[in-house]
Amino acid sequence: MANINENYLKLKAGYLFPEISKRVKVYSEKNPSAKIIRLGIGDVTLPIVPSVVDAMVAASKEMGTAGGFHGYGPEQGYSFLLKSIADNDYGTLGIKIDESEIFVSDGSKCDCGNIQEIFSTDAKIAVADPVYPVYVDTNVMAGRTGEIGADGRYSNLIYMPATKENGFQPEIPKEKADIVYLCYPNNPTGTVTTKEALKAWVEYAKKNNSIILYDSAYEAFISEPGVPRSIYEVEGAKEVAIEFRSFSKTAGFTGLRCAYIVIPKELKGRTKSGEEVSLNALWSRRHTTKFNGVSYVTQKGAEACYSPQGKKEIQESIAYYMSNAAKIREGLKKAGYEVFGGVNAPYIWLKTSNNLSSWDFFDRLLDKAQVVGTPGSGFGPAGEGYFRLSAFGKKEDVEEAISRISSL
Ligand code: MLT
Repeated sequence: MANINENYLKLKAGYLFPEISKRVKVYSEKNPSAKIIRLGIGDVTLPIVPSVVDAMVAASKEMGTAGGFHGYGPEQGYSFLLKSIADNDYGTLGIKIDESEIFVSDGSKCDCGNIQEIFSTDAKIAVADPVYPVYVDTNVMAGRTGEIGADGRYSNLIYMPATKENGFQPEIPKEKADIVYLCYPNNPTGTVTTKEALKAWVEYAKKNNSIILYDSAYEAFISEPGVPRSIYEVEGAKEVAIEFRSFSKTAGFTGLRCAYIVIPKELKGRTKSGEEVSLNALWSRRHTTKFNGVSYVTQKGAEACYSPQGKKEIQESIAYYMSNAAKIREGLKKAGYEVFGGVNAPYIWLKTSNNLSSWDFFDRLLDKAQVVGTPGSGFGPAGEGYFRLSAFGKKEDVEEAISRISSL
């Protein structure tokens, strides 16, 4: 028998979303006629847009020809996609990103989970609380934390509460963190930050030799002017930040799988003896060793997201989801709930009624309204007493869910 990685035993429960699915399954087996509406996990419901479908069909046909067949592609991504990303996601913001600074992957969840491998196992990590659970759990697995306490916090991890009181802007830690995870537009609270706040983070990172891991998977949902779309909008951020983006929510790729990381060439880590090492080179070594690239067909589909017609179609899907978000936000407000987010992000963060705990509220909603959401405490101890609803459902389901919740 081999010894196991005992860090896994520190994990407090199953991963949040499978845990929710398990509870919903038990409920639906007991109540087979219940029409359950799922607004829990942020999974898209609209079909892939025609431009992307057409590009993938064409690419599939190409693969069936002697001249158009593609075997292993470049692990980092095909140049046609890297160029489209650099030009459209960054060039339009006046940010120069070289193709060699982009790494295409099969998802931001994997990227956010895997990136910690290139950092020292004693790196001190700082996370917002509440937070996308992948950031915490993968660092627990790697042994960067101690045990979980009665307060739901792992020791040796810096928690930065993002609460109603601080406008969901986590305070910059007094101590030095080696790695800081930031996510804007934020999952789970649906709130955003300002360029000024990001400037302060970049200054902190420079002063402390920290690296910021900036998860921008929901950037496409920003609707208000002036909200930063990329951390690289801040001068000097390329020296301290890695950025994560995804086609999952932007273009409905949750089932197709395509995302990317930007690791600027300026970004350096250090060896114990103080020698500077390029993080781009380190990640490239890791990526080419452990990953064989996203399929040609999927990358062709991703490229089509940047065509004029593709952009238009994707914008329509985003508008559909954001109209759901407005319905949830306004409907819940009318029903007397305190709500946050949902303006520049597809998530609505609400205070539970009657001061119920997040999981009690989950049970109540499932039992009385057959609506599934995500308990705020699943994202961290500061999420206790909150609840997240996703705007990615079908319009009719969203309307029905709000009507059911309102009549509770
Ligand atoms: C969420 O619901 O928080 C996300 O959809 C989960 C994910 O992207 O992995």
